[in-house]
Amino acid sequence: GGAFSGLAHPHNVNAFMPGASLTRSCAVIDVDGSLAALSLRERCLLVVGQTNWRTRAFPEAGVPQLKMSDGPAGLRGEGHGSSGTPGVSTPSGITLGSSWDPDLLGEIGDLLGTEARRKRAHVLLGPTVNLHRTPVGGRTFECYSEDPELTARLAERYVQGVQSHEVAVTVKHFVCNDTEIERLSVNVEVDERTLRETYLRPFERAVTRGGAWGVMSAYNRLDGDFCAENRRLLTDILRHEWGFDGYVVSDWFGVHEPVGAATAGLSLEMPAPVRVYGDRLLAAVEAGHVTEDAVESIARDVLTVIARTRADERSCDEPEESVDDPVERALTRRAAVAGTVLLRNEPVGDEGTGPCALPIDVGSLSTIAVIGPNATIDRSMGGGSASLTPLGHRTLLDALSDRLTDARSGATVVTEPGVRIDRLTPLVRRPQLRTPSDEPGLLVEYVNGLDWDGDTVASVVNRSTMVRFFGTTPDEVDATAFSARIRGSFLPELDGLHEFGVVSTGPVRAVVRSGGLTTTVVDDPEMLIPRTREFFGYGSEETVVSVECRAGEPVELDLRWATGQTSGFAALRLGVRAPDPADLFERAVRAAADADVALVVVGTNDEWETEGFDREFIELPGRQDELVEAVAAVNDRTVVVINAGSPVAIDWVDRERAPAAIVTSFFAGQEQAEAMVDVLLGDADPGGRLPVTYPRRLADTPAFLHHAPDHDSHGRATQRYAEGLFTGHRWYEARSIEPRFWFGHGLTYGATDWGDATIDRITAAEVVADSDPFVVTVPVSSVGERAAVEVVQGYVAAVDPVATRPPRVLATWSKLTLVPGAEATVELEFGFDALRRWDTATSSWIVDPGVYELVVARSSDPAAEHARLGVTIG
Ligand code: BGC
Repeated sequence: GGAFSGLAHPHNVNAFMPGASLTRSCAVIDVDGSLAALSLRERCLLVVGQTNWRTRAFPEAGVPQLKMSDGPAGLRGEGHGSSGTPGVSTPSGITLGSSWDPDLLGEIGDLLGTEARRKRAHVLLGPTVNLHRTPVGGRTFECYSEDPELTARLAERYVQGVQSHEVAVTVKHFVCNDTEIERLSVNVEVDERTLRETYLRPFERAVTRGGAWGVMSAYNRLDGDFCAENRRLLTDILRHEWGFDGYVVSDWFGVHEPVGAATAGLSLEMPAPVRVYGDRLLAAVEAGHVTEDAVESIARDVLTVIARTRADERSCDEPEESVDDPVERALTRRAAVAGTVLLRNEPVGDEGTGPCALPIDVGSLSTIAVIGPNATIDRSMGGGSASLTPLGHRTLLDALSDRLTDARSGATVVTEPGVRIDRLTPLVRRPQLRTPSDEPGLLVEYVNGLDWDGDTVASVVNRSTMVRFFGTTPDEVDATAFSARIRGSFLPELDGLHEFGVVSTGPVRAVVRSGGLTTTVVDDPEMLIPRTREFFGYGSEETVVSVECRAGEPVELDLRWATGQTSGFAALRLGVRAPDPADLFERAVRAAADADVALVVVGTNDEWETEGFDREFIELPGRQDELVEAVAAVNDRTVVVINAGSPVAIDWVDRERAPAAIVTSFFAGQEQAEAMVDVLLGDADPGGRLPVTYPRRLADTPAFLHHAPDHDSHGRATQRYAEGLFTGHRWYEARSIEPRFWFGHGLTYGATDWGDATIDRITAAEVVADSDPFVVTVPVSSVGERAAVEVVQGYVAAVDPVATRPPRVLATWSKLTLVPGAEATVELEFGFDALRRWDTATSSWIVDPGVYELVVARSSDPAAEHARLGVTIG
């Protein structure tokens, strides 16, 4: 076999990625000089945050502040309240994962590098390269894929795109932070081979090929040690094996004690206030528990990222900028299209002999019913640190109506929500809000200290009924202890009983006045209301009261609120649920029955899919399944758009009258609506393939039995990755479980013929490096009337090697677009990386001698195989 030591990785950053490897020597600030100018105590203070997003400057040593900003799908900046600086919102990770297009990820990274500069950030806190271990993961939407190789190749290019702007990434969360359950403390147990081949793989590639300048350690423990204090991870693997020479930042509050962290090689504790490094680190050095060398080394890491990102030339004190550039809009729209997966598309009309339901033929359309809870509200991102204030909000209804008008289609668009899926009372946005001086929005008056009746020190107009703070406030406000009075009015659009609800992380009193009557929504100055999982576990249960309102008659809102003890995070939300007609559901079905085409937009939203907790089920919330069935029963041109950030159960596909077409783009960012209309009307081909296996039911999924941690007698939780290497589609194939849709599945509006696959050679004495891969060639021709997007996928099936292997493992792929009549030759390369496995006996990567089959396929569905070519090694 062709073994080489893990310690001598061939893809060393500086050797292989000249473009992405600004070495320490070409830095602007003089790392050695600055280091020498810093005392030991200053070094201990350099390696902690000074604010939530920034490190401390040491002007005399020539060290500027370093600013970091979330997150993978756009730059949030340092905004506060709801006045976060608006920014470009790209498709979320899973949508980018659906693109299967590394070049596109390079473009998105490039755009985000530009955005980072506009937001004055030196570091973008992303990409998120954890895996879709289970569809219930609260951050599944944020991650690219269930598959390590797909994730790895996308991450590599994203990293290079961002860093081409001298903006650092932090590849996160290192490692095995694949779910949110007990996320701050859970211990993950995973066997070494699975760890190496699966969960570490994306990080490995982002570092060794992508040349990442930063990594973020995960919250969880791995084999007992917190990832932030795990020397094997942060030093042995990351630095010694992979040649990483960047900095490692803790996840926010995810580091626990100085000795373990400094010894492990954790470079920077975030955020402020300091809890672990700083003077505690100094004391640990003085007590002889941490060496001065260890402190020097982590301080050097921080200086190195400051130098690489030229933080001394780009001050983070400049104001953040919002830029709405049509070229960038076009890119995010193209990316959303590229990540749109056409799951099903059946012929309709004349007993199913007509054309397929999609694309919709605008010329013959007279009425289209746009139905469902997500049709008239923008649900284009998941919840948590990956969310941001987008440049704008567009709904599918808006986008479709405008496009039909532009196309001079006389078609009527009718809309009905049918059902509601809000978990909490819905937030109210600017158009329905007025400040006391009659501007759109709500007035927020800040008070320093926790007495909300104190003097106003700053006032701001908020865009919605949510305020959220993460360590930053207006300059006059003490970010660690402040209160606020929030005043203005809400403009009801309907007569009747409205529900007002409040969730708060701190003391709160909220009163509303409607028609001369005053109602208290909540009065909880002592924070006696129980806490729930809202707002990362700091939020109270929602209190809800009903208030009679009249359309157009302003309801006065008066909220008093103070920050509680929430380590820098504080939030308040007021929601209002307007009355629904009793026949909300039936109206939608009637509208569908009367229309030529029924478009049903179902899914979840950022209340169901968010950082902070996992889902409990994968069914669509509310009565959405019933809605789809009822609509499909009355309209055979029913098209379902699934707008959820991860797979959902869709049993209605098995019904006799199933919807003719199903399409999803998950949470596709700011251009989600326009991109979906491009696909629905056939202006673009849905370019995506599933980056995750779409299960029939949760109990079929690989981690189902091992998602919930076990607790020992001390209450310590351990999550066992007992499915081992059998993750994602490998599990379904190995267990003969038929998923709803296989990983890699996705349809095109075009049609292609794939010719005979051939291979350059069928034996190799050994395979030691990717420089001499097996090359499989497949001719593909476009034989339909429309352009076709194809993803030719290459899997490896091991026939007889000694070690256990999953039935097939994704090795490589090629994505191409062919206009009608065009032909192309696809080359798939299967090299060392495709054939290797981790050998625990020698702690190295080896290729076992033996027989392998190289599989060419349209998806991971065993029935979608195109060719199998046997090769022998050794
Ligand atoms: C998340 C990180 C994020 C950080 C800063 C944490 O809760 O896990 O992904 O970058 O917060 O917002």
